[in-house]
Amino acid sequence: MPIATPDAGAESAGPTVAVVGPGAIGTTIAAALHEVGRTPMICGRSPRDCLELTGADGRIVVPGPVRLDPAGLDGTFDLVFVAVKSTQLDSAAPWLSALCGPRTVVCVLQNGVEQEALVAPYAAGGPVLPSVVWFPAQREPDGSVTLRGEPRITVPDVPGAGVVLDALRDTRCAVDVAQDFRSVAWRKLLQNAVAGLMVLTGRRAGMFARPDVVELALGYSRECLAVARAEGAVLGDEVPQAIVDGFRNAPADLGTSILADRQAGRPLEWDCRNAVVRRRGRAHGIPTPISDLIVPLLAAASDGPG
Ligand SMILES: NC(=O)c1ccc[n+]([C@@H]2O[C@H](COP(=O)([O-])OP(=O)(O)OC[C@H]3O[C@@H](n4cnc5c(N)ncnc54)[C@H](OP(=O)(O)O)[C@@H]3O)[C@@H](O)[C@H]2O)c1
Repeated sequence: MPIATPDAGAESAGPTVAVVGPGAIGTTIAAALHEVGRTPMICGRSPRDCLELTGADGRIVVPGPVRLDPAGLDGTFDLVFVAVKSTQLDSAAPWLSALCGPRTVVCVLQNGVEQEALVAPYAAGGPVLPSVVWFPAQREPDGSVTLRGEPRITVPDVPGAGVVLDALRDTRCAVDVAQDFRSVAWRKLLQNAVAGLMVLTGRRAGMFARPDVVELALGYSRECLAVARAEGAVLGDEVPQAIVDGFRNAPADLGTSILADRQAGRPLEWDCRNAVVRRRGRAHGIPTPISDLIVPLLAAASDGPG
């Protein structure tokens, strides 16, 4: 397998970049940057000498070590990718304090539709750019990451997007800029919300072969759609069926990261993937009876007690 190293002569005058959270998504972005000679600073919480990404076309090793202590960092960065889980944001706050100045663009590589509001309090007043992450990547027991699919993210068409485009230009990670980012983000959220049903059964996509599960998933997806529209997303009536069909037609063993987290006993991203629908629904006076049932169960599965 080829091991990519940056071209020593490939000096980049592009933005200075740090990646906070070198997990599945953070490693993919770091590897995409390293591969073209733009190795970012890597900020994590577990010691690692290097990061490893394995894709269909080989292996990329990003030299480390992973930095573990924000104290003593000198200077701020043009662009900080935040790739910790939403449940890990509080604990990553010291990194953001150290890495961000008033002009730093913070690009949030997380699921959800509230990324700006959640991350802005930790940034230093610069733009916080939400994103939709489209590629599946998986952490292996040895800490390496397996990339499944072509890396691609979508960001909104706002001034901060230019820094992300500059940083990822000519890398293996494509960046789409969406005029109507809100609709794109809510479409993905509907999919994530329905995937949460797998946590409650402990089963993978094969469960969507059951007509009763399809009926529940369609009802839930329609409930999410009503809230999404109230939030300004422009999504057609066909979206709930398309989302459920996506799960029904997927390989029976297709999982989801929230199911993997549940099976590993880790905290779940239930708030940003599911509770947000109930929260925003209440704000608009929209009944969310399915969320009212599902959200407390996901929350309890994640956080206990018991
Ligand atoms: N993976 C996917 O296919 C995928 C696809 C779409 C969207 N997403 C979303 O992308 C986000 C990131 O997911 P992921 O799958 O990449 O998660 P992940 O593999 O669990 O990676 C999170 C990384 O953050 C590190 N971390 C945790 N707390 C930290 C702290 N306080 N300071 C610094 N680093 C810290 C973790 O360190 P440790 O190594 O110590 O755990 C880990 O390396 C989530 O919102 C997820 O829903 C993921």
